[in-house]
Amino acid sequence: MTDTIDQGALPVHIGFIMDGNGRWAKEQGLPRTAGHKKGAEVVRLVIEHAKKRGIQIVTLYAFSTENWKRPKAEVKTLLDLFRKYMNEDIRELQKQGIRVSFIGEREKFPADMVARMNEIERETMGNKDFRVILALNYGFRDDMIYAIKKIASDILDRKYLISSIDEAKVNAALSTHDTPYPDLIIRTSGDQRLSNFLMWESAYAELYFTPIYWPDFNEHDLDDAIEAYGRRSRRFGNIAS
Ligand code: IPE
Ligand code: IPE
Ligand code: MG
Repeated sequence: MTDTIDQGALPVHIGFIMDGNGRWAKEQGLPRTAGHKKGAEVVRLVIEHAKKRGIQIVTLYAFSTENWKRPKAEVKTLLDLFRKYMNEDIRELQKQGIRVSFIGEREKFPADMVARMNEIERETMGNKDFRVILALNYGFRDDMIYAIKKIASDILDRKYLISSIDEAKVNAALSTHDTPYPDLIIRTSGDQRLSNFLMWESAYAELYFTPIYWPDFNEHDLDDAIEAYGRRSRRFGNIAS
């Protein structure tokens, strides 16, 4: 591992679609749950390395609104892992001055988890060094439905007129309102889709797909993605400068 990478522009905010835990486990002849356990270790490593590279924000897609469809036992293992992660790893992040918050409807999780999520957000709110956002029971469509309801109720309350709805107002109604749009979205495992992750926010994000399964993803792979980002030409509809 080298300590420097060939740096073009550096993404401020990276979104990770952490996929391939199940296939990784299958290839090793292990139960899917073993893939999720290994995946949780990779989260630790990725956060540490992203911070070291000067990235400011990472959003990690850990559980989608559609993942409830999975067998009960797998959902239970995932919830147990999240609980463990929130009680052990996040305490460590807290000590390092990292701010941790959550997107996604948390009320669907057991009460002890909800209480812990609220506590983590409260306790790390003032941390400025780095931000970790965990997407748990997150789905963009759900977030958009919530935003539409909020805007509709603001209008009924006569807070503003329909004609004044603009990008900023829609953005303010989304759960991601307090973060800049992601610059780079990395999806592991070879699948090339967003699977309901940050679809408004990613309108101009650079997409990076790697065939590596999440449990095998490491520092070098993150460097590769950051380097690839540095070579992209982001035009936002304009012409190259
Ligand atoms: C990602 O890995 C973790 C979650 C979605 C919770 P998967 O469990 O989706 O692994 P694959 O895609 O089946 O290999
Ligand atoms: C996306 O992975 C969700 C997370 C990584 C949490 P999935 O494995 O659920 O996505 P699909 O079903 O392959 O699109
Ligand atoms: Mg998957």
